Amino acid sequence: LTTVKEIYTDREIFLDQEVTVGGWVRSVRGSKAFGFIVLHDGSCFDTLQVVYHDTMDNFAEISKLNVGAAIIVKGTLVATPEAKQPFEIQASEVQVEGASAPDYPLQKKRHTMEYLRTMTHLRPRTNTFQAVFRVRSLCAYAIHKFFQERGFVYVHTPLITGSDCEGAGEMFRVTTLDPQNPPVDDNGKVDYTQDFFGKETNLTVSGQLNGETYAQAFRNIYTFGPTFRAENSNTTRHAAEFWMIEPECAFADLNDNMDLAEDMLKYVIRYVLENAPQEMNFFNSFVDKGLLDRLNHVIDSEFGHVTYTEAIELLEKNNDKFDYKVFWGCDLQTEHERYLTEQIFKKPVFVTDYPKEIKAFYMKQNEDGKTVAAMDCLVPGIGEIIGGSQREDDYDKLKARMDELGLKAEDYQFYMDLRKYGSTRHSGFGLGFERCVMYLTGMGNIRDVIPFPRTVNNCDL
Ligand code: 4AD
Ligand code: MG
Repeated sequence: LTTVKEIYTDREIFLDQEVTVGGWVRSVRGSKAFGFIVLHDGSCFDTLQVVYHDTMDNFAEISKLNVGAAIIVKGTLVATPEAKQPFEIQASEVQVEGASAPDYPLQKKRHTMEYLRTMTHLRPRTNTFQAVFRVRSLCAYAIHKFFQERGFVYVHTPLITGSDCEGAGEMFRVTTLDPQNPPVDDNGKVDYTQDFFGKETNLTVSGQLNGETYAQAFRNIYTFGPTFRAENSNTTRHAAEFWMIEPECAFADLNDNMDLAEDMLKYVIRYVLENAPQEMNFFNSFVDKGLLDRLNHVIDSEFGHVTYTEAIELLEKNNDKFDYKVFWGCDLQTEHERYLTEQIFKKPVFVTDYPKEIKAFYMKQNEDGKTVAAMDCLVPGIGEIIGGSQREDDYDKLKARMDELGLKAEDYQFYMDLRKYGSTRHSGFGLGFERCVMYLTGMGNIRDVIPFPRTVNNCDL
């Protein structure tokens, strides 16, 4: 089979030639003597018009085709300079590979995103989701390309783990014990020594701690895999299962870390603009007017920088606009993040040096004793897209912080070892892949940028 993409790419080769194309019917309209089918084959955003005639044996069968049917068309590709599309197939044969029932739910009209979410198995056949998932695929490729070109080693960190990297306790438990009747120890507590791994385990919330061990051997590494969080937040930017990219670099401080993040985001934006122009134009026209201008502006300008303390001062002046009033020490909410990046900076911005109380145990403590060398990257429309930090590389300081937080050093022995055997200054960050795809496409809900979303009360298909 020739693909529609090949036809559009090499039209001079295919014009006036016989081609065979397979795909799904987007629409059919027929008269007594002939009819038109709009065919989509998934190879590109474009569709191909097929003209069929009553000279064909199965003319009646073709005329009755429903939207969604799978067909194989043989015919001649002819130029149609007057029409909207540059050419069409004059079919000599239309073979019905699989008919479609008349109740096919995707008719030729605009459906709401809510409606399409009820059919995650069929929505990839619509224009919007064709565009989203082609961009998602290209975005993943661009991220790999970016890191591979810079010599980073791709490390596969485990999905089942015994630790809670972020210390937020938002983990999905992994167990083979019988939930109705688990074994108990002498104190009446569930006896996890009898569980599959001989201890309590969970799905990973982040590959970072494992990633750090490889950075202390390969210097520059990255992970790219699924992560899981049992956050009970029903928002448009939280999923229970999402993908994260986590680079980790030895001999790198917080500034190196931010430079890497900025270079990566710009690289990915540029790659997607160059390699998915039709999809990006579609988003710009139908999903988020102004998207292209905004992204082009981002590649041409420098990201903003502000410390948490400065950000709080800026935000406090606007406290009347917020549901949650800010004060030094508070965690920034989405409304604050968006205000900073959309109203004050009007571009992506790094917020650095957060209070240690609202950040994870592993972050490098600043001289002031109050803040840590953390950075979040905020972007318009979303808020936080990246969270990262320089890591505490001093054994004693890390140990002291873990003691304060009640973390047992013996549970993190491998992590302490890294501070014992050739410790280096090192930094890394986590890019939320779905949030990155939302940013690139202008899509407003995380459920619409991951093929099969898992959110509170939703694990369909
Ligand atoms: O800020 P977070 O929690 O950082 C970490 O996990 C670090 N261990 C990363 C590192 O330094 N290696 O998460 C990183 C990013 C967030 O900025 C956000 O984009 C995304 O992951 N994220 C989520 N995306 C979708 N749904 C959720 N529930 C998310 N939680 C975090
Ligand atoms: Mg974060």
